[in-house]
Amino acid sequence: MADAVVDTVAPVPVAVVGAGPAGLMLAHRLGRAGVDTIVIDTRTRHEIATTQRAGILEADAARDLIETGVGDRILREGHEHEGTELRFGGRPHRLDFKELVGASVWLYPQTDVFTDLADARERDGGTVHFGVKDTEVLDITTGAPRVRYTAADGSRHEIRARYVVGADGSRSMCRNLVPEDRRVRYGKEYPFAWFGIMAEAPASAPELVYAHSEHGFALISRRTETVQRMYFQCAPDEPVDAWPDDRVWETLQARVAGEDGFRLKEGPILEKTVLRFRSFVQEPMGWGSMLLAGDAAHTVPPTGARGLNLALHDVKVLADVLLRALGTEGEAALAEYEPRALRRIWRAQNFSHWMTRLLHTPPGASPFDLRRQLGELDNVVGTRAGRAYLAEQYTGWPAASRG
Ligand code: PHB
Repeated sequence: MADAVVDTVAPVPVAVVGAGPAGLMLAHRLGRAGVDTIVIDTRTRHEIATTQRAGILEADAARDLIETGVGDRILREGHEHEGTELRFGGRPHRLDFKELVGASVWLYPQTDVFTDLADARERDGGTVHFGVKDTEVLDITTGAPRVRYTAADGSRHEIRARYVVGADGSRSMCRNLVPEDRRVRYGKEYPFAWFGIMAEAPASAPELVYAHSEHGFALISRRTETVQRMYFQCAPDEPVDAWPDDRVWETLQARVAGEDGFRLKEGPILEKTVLRFRSFVQEPMGWGSMLLAGDAAHTVPPTGARGLNLALHDVKVLADVLLRALGTEGEAALAEYEPRALRRIWRAQNFSHWMTRLLHTPPGASPFDLRRQLGELDNVVGTRAGRAYLAEQYTGWPAASRG
């Protein structure tokens, strides 16, 4: 495989492994500054565009997409949400983000962010190769790293670059290139997962509903006027086949039921998936001429919808330092990337973990555990400081500036 080389393509300043939102947004930002990239991904464009992910953009992330020319559809088809609902003890509690912290979020699915960025790359003449195989990243400890891959048509290619960015997602192969004895992996597994559905039904609520119940967590989100996205807490090894539609609806209804008589609007279920998750960070976020961004370097549980937002923040900082490194400052500029990105990463790790623990019922929870959780939820919604804390974390922190 590796020896049957190789068509060498013209050198580029930056080769990007991974064409998800992180890789494409980085290429888009660099492209706008006149820096060429080649982006490759093992998945097809169709696979990425149809893999459901979270749907909330912080106002700053939405603004960055809009300001860089990839946000037209967010403004046309996205929905600005000025608050969210926490349901517990059978009661609704609205958090008004606008009033609490002067911020809002946008409901706009990650799959659409991906499509907008992929279209923009095409429109701007950027190079993206989907469906590649046998990716190898070589010579990252030199100033001339290379990326080899087999294209979808079976031909072998080699990209010569000055820098390589590993934006290859939660199963990253690039992160394994940081030597084992020099890297630390921080992580936490959870004893539950999310059962996600896509249902053809009208919206049940104007904003997202995060529900705690003694039976476990549920989240009511949406996609369009006629398609809704919902999740409920399940076991990590839950078999999808064990869940006919009526059992799914019964479970979701029980988790959101309350004294206000709230009921979800039901309809045919178009898709069912069990989503496992974990908290994870690898440090350092790079080695030599290779830098990691997004899920390749860190993942969070989906409860606070931080994942995509964090990835977009990483590449905002990374584009800045790469442009300076390729300009007059040289490689020294790269040293800034990790400290600027990591601060937000660990804040988001804390928030995602906190919100997950706040709302999920661990298997074997005792009556004490449940009462304590209700006490914590009451502390959150019952004081302005508690509400403002959640609102501030959920709507995002200011972007890291140069230290
Ligand atoms: C979603 O719409 O898929 C979604 C929204 C909020 C979350 C997680 C997922 O916290």
